[in-house]
Amino acid sequence: MVGLGPKPPFPRKGTGTLDNLPKDLRNEIEHLERLFTVDGAKLKEVTNHFVHELEKGLSVQGGSIPMNPTWVMSFPDGNETGTYLALDMGGTNLRVCQVTLTETKSEFDIIQSKYRMPEELKTGDAEELWEYIADCLMQFIETHHGDPTKLDALPLGFTFSYPATQNYIDEGILQRWTKGFDIAGVEGHNVVPMFEAALQRRGVPIKLTALINDTTGTLIASAYTDPKMRIGCIFGTGCNAAYMENCGSIPKLAHMNLPPDMPMAINCEWGAFDNEHKVLPRTPYDVIIDKDSPRPGQQSFEKMVAGLYLGEIFRLVLVDLHDNQEIKIFPGQDIAKLRKAYSLDSSFLSLIEEDPFENLSETFELFQTKLGLTPTGPELELIRRTAELIGTRAARLSACGVAAISKKKGYKQCHVGADGSVFNKYPNFKARGAQALREILDWPEKADPKEDDPIEILAAEDGSGVGAALIAALTMQRIKQGNMHGILHPENFRTTEPLPA
Ligand code: GLC
Repeated sequence: MVGLGPKPPFPRKGTGTLDNLPKDLRNEIEHLERLFTVDGAKLKEVTNHFVHELEKGLSVQGGSIPMNPTWVMSFPDGNETGTYLALDMGGTNLRVCQVTLTETKSEFDIIQSKYRMPEELKTGDAEELWEYIADCLMQFIETHHGDPTKLDALPLGFTFSYPATQNYIDEGILQRWTKGFDIAGVEGHNVVPMFEAALQRRGVPIKLTALINDTTGTLIASAYTDPKMRIGCIFGTGCNAAYMENCGSIPKLAHMNLPPDMPMAINCEWGAFDNEHKVLPRTPYDVIIDKDSPRPGQQSFEKMVAGLYLGEIFRLVLVDLHDNQEIKIFPGQDIAKLRKAYSLDSSFLSLIEEDPFENLSETFELFQTKLGLTPTGPELELIRRTAELIGTRAARLSACGVAAISKKKGYKQCHVGADGSVFNKYPNFKARGAQALREILDWPEKADPKEDDPIEILAAEDGSGVGAALIAALTMQRIKQGNMHGILHPENFRTTEPLPA
């Protein structure tokens, strides 16, 4: 007979009862709950300070949040056309795409190749980084366009997702590396000539038309298919957002005398929110993450909410509960594997939160296979609750950023396009974020559960591919119309036609 055997336990929803746990462990869980829970009042306080800091970033004096003007100066209307190359250098992968914006409104075709970003490149040598990128591009061109020596230079949008000062759309002076990157000789420099020099050395027939942040790409790509889009967010390895400002509300651009109602997409770089540690409820674990990172004192907000750090926060809690606290979890076991920094990523937390079984058997197996540890039943409860607390805090604090932009701009109703591994894969992230927005913005309870929220965070279109292509198209369009603001090399655009589809 097949199909008979012990019945699986009932699926589990949320935390089980903690009543049966030994008292010291229950105390420990309550302690963690106090550390990691951010209530509605605190969310409001964080949001209000956030609004203030967004404004400060736009001022001449500036603040922690860079609020970088991007020279993306309009939304698409869905009628953009043409074929463009796009390169995405995110935190984890390198992706090369060819995007065709088709004649049919708001539609596109895309071909793409993904390359893993070797870990050692992130902290290696600048030259090696650019050479690696040039090689990936060359491979893509040879596969899809044939002999590179016979090609005219192809236009490319480069999604470079780090804070960069852009006096021009085709320039990007790296302010600082984020997301664990640490490559000497790049901060403070324009990355475009470095990138172009590597292309030249390798004979890759490409000219860069625009340098783009992934959030700006996400905003523009999402607006291509949904006219209600106002904000683009990334909740992934890093966390950040972009939105459309009017030039008249950007005091630090006043010297350029741009028409006050002219739109300008702002890459907020909100990961740097509260670097002064005024409002964020940091725990001792957040302090350690910051201290041991390549850029202490930077990206305070990001270090509490982004995918790169969630697994590490969790790991630090468990190591602490083994080493220092009264209860000593995993007594007598060898926690060598758990001691390795950054050995658990946010997908590890996702698996714990997704464990459907009442006895947390999947979590048990995960700890055995990945860490060589054998947790007891009560320890499993603590592990699950810790993951929930860290994941919930990340979603709720992330919502403060969305609420802050909405408040600053007076958006009562809009769509927010979001992308990134945490948004797309972390269980309950969306629902927790939506609940936090409700608390911050005092929305009344829904009459019907199917009703849409006034401000909805929705899965975005592909920002670094389609968004980059659209930005190239929009820039060519505005140059044709005579808006030459923020273009360093207009000749690259004038001679550039989109690729044949
Ligand atoms: C980091 C980068 C930022 C990017 C975000 C998401 O915060 O500094 O530029 O948008 O990660 O990838």
